Amino acid sequence: MSKDEIIQETKRFVEERLRDESSGHDWWHVSRVWRSAMIIGAREGADIFVVQLAALLHDISDYKLNGGDKEAGPWIAARWLKKLGVPDDDVAHVSRIIRSIGFERDRLINDDLSLEGKVVQDADRLDAIGAIGIARAFAFGGYTNKPIFRPESNGEDGDRGGKEDSPSGSSVGHFYDKLLFLKGALHTETAKHVAETRHRVLEKYLQEFFREWNGEDIL
Ligand code: ADP
Ligand code: NI
Repeated sequence: MSKDEIIQETKRFVEERLRDESSGHDWWHVSRVWRSAMIIGAREGADIFVVQLAALLHDISDYKLNGGDKEAGPWIAARWLKKLGVPDDDVAHVSRIIRSIGFERDRLINDDLSLEGKVVQDADRLDAIGAIGIARAFAFGGYTNKPIFRPESNGEDGDRGGKEDSPSGSSVGHFYDKLLFLKGALHTETAKHVAETRHRVLEKYLQEFFREWNGEDIL
């Protein structure tokens, strides 16, 4: 099977599995990450075959949604790629990228990533900010039964109530826990440039959110 055929087969496999996903890890998230990773990867001189496979397979089984199994994603990806006859080195590399992105998701800086891993992580992180990032945060919050915002977590001690396991967790809180830090945690110049605008979208959105929440626009 040619590299192109392997990519197309993998696209079909992932699309089939994630089509009806509704937590924000759906096929269209993967599709955007795939496109961004290809563009960033080409500029950075990364191995585009590995970048594409890792981007396509990176959310094939998310530990936050599969009951906490962090090995399931890398394992499913490796089994799939072996079946297609992908060389062992590339299988191991893709699987390692998926594992590192998964494990280190909540640790913002991870220096152990290969260039290809950095490219995919940047592409994934870009999809968590900007207008799309906002939509995904609320989709995820709804999916995990979190409220939009909890005013009792009012930002004192930096707590906006977005912590993963916090009973007071909220989607707006997640912006303060994670999304506003992503701009500063990117690896590549291309992603950093794109993030400038997307970060401003987050800031403007929050400003407007609190203006309306406090009724300032109606006073
Ligand atoms: P990815 O799967 O893209 O690597 P995550 O699994 O960390 O990233 O998050 C997926 C999406 O869900 C992101 O858009 C993120 O903002 C959102 N998300 C993750 N955790 C929360 C949370 N606690 N509250 C709201 N949104 C969240
Ligand atoms: Ni993702």
